[in-house]
Amino acid sequence: MFGLATAAARDKSRGMAPSANPSLAATLRLASPEATEALAEALADVLEPGDTILLEGPIGAGKSHFCRAAIRHLLSREGLVEDIPSPTFTLVQTYALSGTEVWHADLYRLSDPAQIIELGLEEAFETAITFVEWPDRLGTAAPLNAMHVTLSTGADEDVRIARIHATDPRWNKLRALLPADIGVMPDV
Ligand SMILES: Nc1ncnc2c1ncn2[C@@H]1O[C@H](COP(=O)(O)OP(=O)(O)OP(=O)(O)O)[C@@H](O)[C@H]1O
Ligand SMILES: [Mg+2]
Repeated sequence: MFGLATAAARDKSRGMAPSANPSLAATLRLASPEATEALAEALADVLEPGDTILLEGPIGAGKSHFCRAAIRHLLSREGLVEDIPSPTFTLVQTYALSGTEVWHADLYRLSDPAQIIELGLEEAFETAITFVEWPDRLGTAAPLNAMHVTLSTGADEDVRIARIHATDPRWNKLRALLPADIGVMPDV
């Protein structure tokens, strides 16, 4: 469904020693909106309270598409079906799960960094599962233990490239998701 190359696999293909850095880095080719949904759902299955996903990429890259699929999946696992409106104007939308909350933030229109605290985002980063579009607006409030997903458009209209990067050991749980049988992607 989605093609993937790990940093270690890329290093190997370039004749380099596998990187000593244990950080997680992967590049995936998402051939369709459905492939993006499949990735979002697979990631959602391992998310825990205190996990923050920062989604970067230009307008129309698919950040909301990814968040909506992940949130829909988290809700449906608990038998919940809800609208997942865009937080473009409200800046955040929250959803209650049994042990935690899901926060979806779109900070494109954030006008004042003080709003980050007013919105309660700093606490959400500690206690909830939080998705943030336009995380550059967070400045120094961006949690260091977050996972980064950077989406960009490919040559084809329906193709997106996702770069996943995380340094905090909490994201080691993602390594089990990385299919070992998919060939190395050329850099894009
Ligand atoms: N492979 C793909 N993955 C995700 N979305 C795709 C893909 N191919 C096409 N699309 C389309 O691209 C659009 C992405 O829109 P979306 O609102 O998710 O972007 P965004 O990054 O959130 O933009 P914004 O910065 O305006 O919030 C959707 O219409 C979606 O159907
Ligand atoms: Mg969006």
